Formats: sequence, structure tokens, C-alpha cells
Amino acid sequence: MGVFKKMGRAKILIVEDENLVARDLANMVKTLGYEVTDVIQTGEAVLKSINQNPPDLALMDIVLKGSLDGISAASILWEEHSIPVVYITSFADDLTFERAKLTEPFGYLIKPFEERELELTIETALYKAKMQLLLKEKEQWLSTILRSIGDGIIVLNPEGKVSLINPVAQKITGWSEREAIGQPLDEVFKSKEISTQNQILEASGLHETVLISRDGQEIPVEQIITPLPEEKGKGAGQVIVFRDISLRKKVEQELKESWARLHRTLEGTIQAISTTIEMRDPYTAGHQRRVARLAEAIARELQLSTAQVEGIKFAAEIHDIGKIYVPAEILSKPTKLTELEYTIIKTHPQAGYEILKNIEFPWPIAEIVLQHHERINGSGYPQALKNGQILLEARILAVADVVEAMSSHRPYRPSFGIDKALDEIKANKGILYDSEVVEACLRLFAEARFSFESPNSNRFQLHGAKKA
Ligand SMILES: [Fe+2]
Ligand SMILES: [Fe+2]
Repeated sequence: MGVFKKMGRAKILIVEDENLVARDLANMVKTLGYEVTDVIQTGEAVLKSINQNPPDLALMDIVLKGSLDGISAASILWEEHSIPVVYITSFADDLTFERAKLTEPFGYLIKPFEERELELTIETALYKAKMQLLLKEKEQWLSTILRSIGDGIIVLNPEGKVSLINPVAQKITGWSEREAIGQPLDEVFKSKEISTQNQILEASGLHETVLISRDGQEIPVEQIITPLPEEKGKGAGQVIVFRDISLRKKVEQELKESWARLHRTLEGTIQAISTTIEMRDPYTAGHQRRVARLAEAIARELQLSTAQVEGIKFAAEIHDIGKIYVPAEILSKPTKLTELEYTIIKTHPQAGYEILKNIEFPWPIAEIVLQHHERINGSGYPQALKNGQILLEARILAVADVVEAMSSHRPYRPSFGIDKALDEIKANKGILYDSEVVEACLRLFAEARFSFESPNSNRFQLHGAKKA
């Protein structure tokens, strides 16, 4: 017997309509050490008996009197109560056997049989039943997981046909389990970008795609495909796990739109401030715009991030806003400034800071404006900051400011010309101005990649010139 250890005292139900046979059988079963739960004669009596005293196995005559024969009773016992059945028969015509096979028999005994044969058949049947129940339990366990999981799961067999589709996958694709089983993947899992089954399966790792559901809806999904472990060197199919990410996509899109809106608001605000300055002081407005163009070009040349470049541009466009506190007569004075007038002019970075400090820009606009007249050797104003203490944005703005100011006309003097302006930053490179920023600015002009005389700046030059 070896592997077949008698499982404790298994309880056996006997269903046999011939009294004598039934009594012999019960004795034989008891002799073998099993417990007999009941001896009954009809299929109809089975349910009542197992309720009163549940057995581990039933020995059942295939042919029973009454409306419920052995085969039907066996099917109920196993399917609904997990009780395995061993058939007992004195004759075996083919038809009965065929029907009996369909109910997954756990064994046959053909009368007459001996004790040893009976024991072996009972033990084999108990063992088979135990294994099948374990398997059933595992399958139920797995199917509960697949059912309760929040992701869509489709399993493909080695031929690439759908062999499992969980409820979430059914909901997303719009295919019911009954319709989807046996279909090729590209029928059930239709992707907007890729058409063939192989292309779907080639995609490795986690990635996003747009699924077209059965009713034509486009659903963005995130999917991952994993091959099932091979069996005996043969491909065993694949598992596709995917989830609906439309909500996430929608939030991302809304965030993008709201950022774009905020951005337009910012631009509009800066524009409004700049226009306000222009009305009172067209010269400064034109100057700011040209400085902004150069500062932006330098920032790009230094390969700063897009966000930083934008911050520098915005700061430059309003960097002299503090000049609205300076009397117009001083700003447009055609002669050289007195010491006092110059002191008044020097308040404009601080004044600009005070105006801007409470606006929550995504960049340090107020600080950049405050620092645009600082010089890296500490000779600037208002805080006499040194090199590392000055924001890079302010160091860039300082160079652009000086180059623009020197190369254009001022009410009190004609233009020095661009060459003089570039000589100034070259001479004071590393003293007043940041070396790298100066180098970047010189490169732009030397390689003719920047000029103040572009269509954008002309308007303001003319405007400013008219005033001067
Ligand atoms: Fe300034
Ligand atoms: Fe300026």
C-alpha cells in the first residue's frame, strides 16, 4: 500500500437497495476499521442521512430503485457536499459506465469483491478527493483574488487567446467573460496606437496606452505584461494587468490648464505693470524690454532651466519699476545729475522691491529687482552684496542692464555704442560683473546671435528716441 495510509477512521455511507448485499458490505467496511454512518436504500434518502451524520465517502450502487439513481445522487454528493462516491455494481453495461464517468467517479467496485480490494478503492478515492478539494480551494482562493483586485487582468493561453478575464477587465473593455474567452487579445484589448497582437505583447514594462472599449470609448490605461512561467520549455501564455487612469489623466490635464491660466495671468500682470511704467516714462519701458531680451538670451546661453529663464525675463521687464518714485524731471533731465539727484535715483531697487515683495511669483522677482545694481566686488547698492550673495538672476540682469544702458541714448548723453558697452563689461569682468555671465554675453554679440535692433525692440527705441 505504501503511500496510502488509512486516514483515521473514515466514515462511510452505504447506499444499496439489496438488503443482504448492504448488510455484508457494512460488515466488511467495519472489519476494515471504518465507521459506517448509515445504510440506506434510495437516492432520495441520501440528503437526510448526510445531514444527520455526514460521511467522508459513500459506497453507492449505480442502479437504485426510486426516482434518483446512484449516478444522480453521486453527482449531488460531490458537487454540493464534497463527498466522494465509489460505485458498486454487479453488471457494467457501457451506457451506465459512460454516464458514471461524467460524474468524476472516485472508484468502481464490481461485485463480488474482496476486503483488500474494497480497502484499496476506498483509500484511493479518499486520497483523490482530498487532492481535488485542495485544488478546488486553491482555485477559489486565486479566483477570489482575481475578482477582488482593483486592476484589470487578462490571461492569455500559449495560442494568444483569452483564457481568463476578471470583472475589472470586463468592465474596462466592455467584454463579458462569456464573449471574451477564446478571443484573440487584439480583439478584446484594442489599443488606439498599436494594432497587432504582437505589438501589444512586445511592449515591455509599465507603460501607458489608450484602450478602445467595445462601445468605442477611448480609455487611457496603464499596463504591464508578464509572461507566465514556461512549462517543459513551452511558452505558457501571458498575463496583462492594466488599470484605468482616466481620472489621473484628467487631473493632470486640469493641472496643466490651470498652470497655463496662471501663467497667462502672470504675463498679463507683468505686461500691465510694464505698460503703467511706459505711460509715465517711455524711456524706462523701452529700456526694460530690451534688457529683458538680452537677459533672456544670456540665461539661455548659460543653459538655465526654462523656468529660470522665464523668471529672469519677467524680472527684467519690470526691474526699474521703483523709478516711479523718482520725479520725472530727474529721469528726463538732459544734463548731468547732481549728487543728490543720483542718491534719489539709487533708491529705485529698494522701491521696486517694496512694490513687488508681496506678490507670490513662482520666482524671486522682488529679490532679483532689489539686487540688480549690486556688483560682485561689493561696490554696488543698496546692500553692497558680494559675488556669492547675489542671485545668479540678478548677476545676469546687471550685465544686460549695463550693456543696454550704455549702448542706447540717454536724455543727458548720446549712445556710447555697443562696442563701448561690451568693452566696459570685458574690462570689469570678475570685478563688477560675473565672469561667466560676461563671457556668455560677449559670445552672443561676437557670434551675432543677439542684437538690440530687432523688430521687437525698434518700436521702443523709436519711442524712446522721440522723447530724447
Ligand atoms: Fe536699475
Ligand atoms: Fe535698468
